[in-house]
Amino acid sequence: MEVAAVKKILVVQGGGRANGNTAQLVSHFVKGAEEGGHSVEVVSLVRNEVKGCLGCNACRYGKPCVQKDAFNDIVPKIKAADCIVFASPLYFWTVSSRIKAFIERFYCIAEEDSNPPLGRYEKYPVKDCALLMTSADDFFWTFEQAVSYYQFTMVNYIGYRDRGMVLAGGCGDTNGKPQIDRTAHLQAAYKFGKNIYPE
Ligand SMILES: Cc1cc2nc3c(=O)[nH]c(=O)nc-3n(C[C@H](O)[C@H](O)[C@H](O)COP(=O)(O)O)c2cc1C
Repeated sequence: MEVAAVKKILVVQGGGRANGNTAQLVSHFVKGAEEGGHSVEVVSLVRNEVKGCLGCNACRYGKPCVQKDAFNDIVPKIKAADCIVFASPLYFWTVSSRIKAFIERFYCIAEEDSNPPLGRYEKYPVKDCALLMTSADDFFWTFEQAVSYYQFTMVNYIGYRDRGMVLAGGCGDTNGKPQIDRTAHLQAAYKFGKNIYPE
């Protein structure tokens, strides 16, 4: 019988509340992915602050990023990962600023591309990616802007291959206890993690 390859999955957690909706969604995804045989690491952007890019361009001249925050320590984890999972609450209809800042810093891991496709100026190591999000509202358009940003940036521009999303609407606002445990989203995240690389 053929055994599915073990994948290295890096989950980047941009949620603010320690045991909030997003943290719970992440832990169910992780449980599923580990049961699916994969090796998973979660990096919290609250505990590991990553600031937005300054645009100083030092990194384009062979230097590590000049900013003394957690990003340079996360770079080897990004490089080693097969799949990067972006986890975020919906803040003002898009990903949290922590996730946005983290993605801005990909600027310093870009490589030169002598023959870039139309509309791209550099290349990135090809990886898989996924999106886990929670929100208070649950309309058909609730995640539209966040998904559009993810799709444009991570898939169309950076060139990652989307493995899927769990968009968990209706988890309650932050003016109270997380309510994701009243929804079916935790189970969905577990199943998504378990089957993210079907045999
Ligand atoms: C600053 C802020 C902005 C938010 N913006 C939205 C929003 O645009 N749409 C929405 O449905 N929920 C919004 N919410 C609610 C959160 O997305 C929701 O409660 C989420 O599940 C919180 O995640 P957490 O429990 O991991 O902190 C916002 C909450 C905060 C604190």
